[in-house]
Amino acid sequence: MNHLMLYCRPGFEKEMAAEIQDKAVALDCFGFSRVVENSGYVLFECYGEEDADKLARRLPFRELVFARQMLVMTHELAELDPSDRISPILAAVANYPQCGELRVETADTNEAKELTTFCRKFSVPLRQALRGAGKLTQEETHRRPVLHLFFLANNHLMVGYSYTTNNSPFHMGIPRLRFPGDAPSRSTLKLEEALHVFVPADEWEIRLRSGLNAVDLGASPGGWTYQLVKRDMMVTSVDNGPMAESLMETGQVKHIKEDGFRYRPTKKNTYWLVCDMVEKPARVTHLIASWFRDGLCQEAIFNLKLPMKKRYAEVEHNLDMLKTWLAEIDEHFVIQAKQLYHDREEITLHVYNMQQLVRRKSGAIQ
Ligand SMILES: C[S@@+](CC[C@H](N)C(=O)[O-])C[C@H]1O[C@@H](n2cnc3c(N)ncnc32)[C@H](O)[C@@H]1O
Repeated sequence: MNHLMLYCRPGFEKEMAAEIQDKAVALDCFGFSRVVENSGYVLFECYGEEDADKLARRLPFRELVFARQMLVMTHELAELDPSDRISPILAAVANYPQCGELRVETADTNEAKELTTFCRKFSVPLRQALRGAGKLTQEETHRRPVLHLFFLANNHLMVGYSYTTNNSPFHMGIPRLRFPGDAPSRSTLKLEEALHVFVPADEWEIRLRSGLNAVDLGASPGGWTYQLVKRDMMVTSVDNGPMAESLMETGQVKHIKEDGFRYRPTKKNTYWLVCDMVEKPARVTHLIASWFRDGLCQEAIFNLKLPMKKRYAEVEHNLDMLKTWLAEIDEHFVIQAKQLYHDREEITLHVYNMQQLVRRKSGAIQ
């Protein structure tokens, strides 16, 4: 088989299919997608024999908006004998190189949740069998492919592999974050996930350091502000709605009851701009670009709420506009976009200026 498999949020299979179709062409890979609505994954069947592997190596995973995971699917095993599921799996991976990790997974759907316990239990004897067969090792795991078994039922699965340099490091492509009990809203996990996905951990000391100034547009009741306060930043929270008392008591939050589209800081000392306002995507995109044009922030994370229809087209349209506007200001802007696990009918974008960041890292600017 020569399929690229992409996990996505259930309900976004069409968007995932449109995106992979578009982006595969750029690498001269052609094919078609098999889409089952609400399945939580898409199979892109490539015409070229080696194309699925080529895409898994060369299509940058971080640039895919709707993909939670990307792997090469080599075998589909159906109607497995419950008394021996392991032998057919060993046969399927006979030509695989030694893998550094095993992930026994399912789709992120309610039906598939029932398989979670089975997957966890099954992974124990399977891991042993794979090690015994020399297909799995604990040495140099970062250099070796990840072996994925994606169960559709307890006797039906897909077998595939991903590259550690170009995949999601998380089981099922989902980072497990614990909801902080003292946060004012569950939305807090959206910003926390965005920081994990977009800001490399070894740069947190510079980019998320204490004392930085931040502005949170559409801040009430304060889930995003909470993430910034937790990192000892000083936050201006703009919203006509109330902010959680616990945040105001920290002394780190200034609450401004104003329209987020009108608010402008008086000083140019804001590092982070974050924005979670429920508004038309084009209006938010334009607002964020205008902050960069006016030199009012250094990095931004913001959400675009997607319409019910033509969601992929809307994403592309906004990304194109943003690219054009930012390129007019400076050629060093980087834009990242992802539908995060904690995003629902929305995607999250991140913008920063690479040249400024390099200068900051070298200590040339504070
Ligand atoms: C999804 S909620 C934000 C939740 C927040 N990020 C949190 O984590 O608690 C959207 C917020 O945007 C605010 N909002 C919408 N339009 C706005 C505008 N034009 N100016 C300021 N706030 C706005 C709403 O009042 C609402 O509180």
